[in-house]
Amino acid sequence: MRGLDDLEVTGRRVLVRADLNVPIEDGVITDDGRIRASVPTIQTLVARGAKVIVCAHLGRPKGEPNPKYTLRPVAERLGELLGQGVAFAADVVGESALSETNALHDGQVVLLENLRYEPGEESKDDATRRAFAEKLAGLADLYVGDGFGAVHRKHASVYDVPQILPHAAGGLVVAEVGVLKKLTDELERPYVVVLGGAKVSDKLGVIANLLSRVDRLLIGGGMAYTFLKAQGHEVGQSLLQEDQLDQVRGFLDEAAKRGVDLVLPVDVLAATHFAEDAGHEVVEATAIPADRQGLDIGPKTRELFASKLADARTIFWNGPMGVFEFDAFAGGTRAVAEALIASEAFTVVGGGDSAAAVRKLGLPEDGFSHISTGGGASLEYLEGKTLPGLAALED
Ligand code: 3PG
Ligand code: MG
Repeated sequence: MRGLDDLEVTGRRVLVRADLNVPIEDGVITDDGRIRASVPTIQTLVARGAKVIVCAHLGRPKGEPNPKYTLRPVAERLGELLGQGVAFAADVVGESALSETNALHDGQVVLLENLRYEPGEESKDDATRRAFAEKLAGLADLYVGDGFGAVHRKHASVYDVPQILPHAAGGLVVAEVGVLKKLTDELERPYVVVLGGAKVSDKLGVIANLLSRVDRLLIGGGMAYTFLKAQGHEVGQSLLQEDQLDQVRGFLDEAAKRGVDLVLPVDVLAATHFAEDAGHEVVEATAIPADRQGLDIGPKTRELFASKLADARTIFWNGPMGVFEFDAFAGGTRAVAEALIASEAFTVVGGGDSAAAVRKLGLPEDGFSHISTGGGASLEYLEGKTLPGLAALED
């Protein structure tokens, strides 16, 4: 993969695909981690006198303009972080994009409107996607792929444009791939993976792959209840994916066969309903009352997980242990994060939600070896899949 140093960018128009998909509430960015992570590459290009055209997506507007998903607030924040104004194009490849990109001087930056306003960006039809990619590529001379969080998407801006323009990987993509390589090649053991989050169906591929690699697999969050149910326990009103039970039983068997220590919650916070202020109590994970739902791992589980992490040499963590957005149910996620910080392992926090949780809980980001900007992307990498956005940068 060629890096930024391999491109002669001075005076050239450089299209940077970034992942600026940040949470925004009422026009206010609530976690700017991905914008901050995108700054160094843009800054490097600015310093080298490129005309920088940044493109990115926000949310899932599904191929049409929708003010709810405008990138305008992101342009403003990016400008603050760069310490220089960032122009904003009110469309992706239309009149505004053309005039804003034409007006750029060396060292200036413009952000295009949300790529996903254009149906060609995500189209499954190669020709449709390619036609949009040609227009996007027409705005620039060179392409830099730096949107790590989106490299698992076969989208025009990720996959097709680098096949049209001379390209390089940005610093963020290089750094993220370097870390994930460490988790696949030169691993120090014990290797412990902690998975959480709501849906086990999102994690099937990665679990299947990890069972042949890890020493321990700790499972919390909403997906743990499908595992508990698969072991024959009552899970009450907790999240449950009935249609995944057979698959999960297969994982339990496979783990036992391979000698992988697959660790499930032993106690949970069982709440009366899904709410910030819901009444709740600690119950054994094997005895969740029929009218209750588990919203976090309990205190014994937090200790158990911490003990399973204490002597690890490599840790990958993806997915919250409970509903961390509610203070009352954030303790499990906090405990796991703190166990990572306390360990001497090489620690990687994988992705969107877990990274946001670390920052929301006020934990020090430098307490981890690496906080990835890509959840889906890092999971698919660990699954052993070919990521379209990396493959396109490869040649
Ligand atoms: C993400 O937030 O997961 C990335 O930005 C990719 O977005 P997507 O899941 O909507 O494709
Ligand atoms: Mg995603």
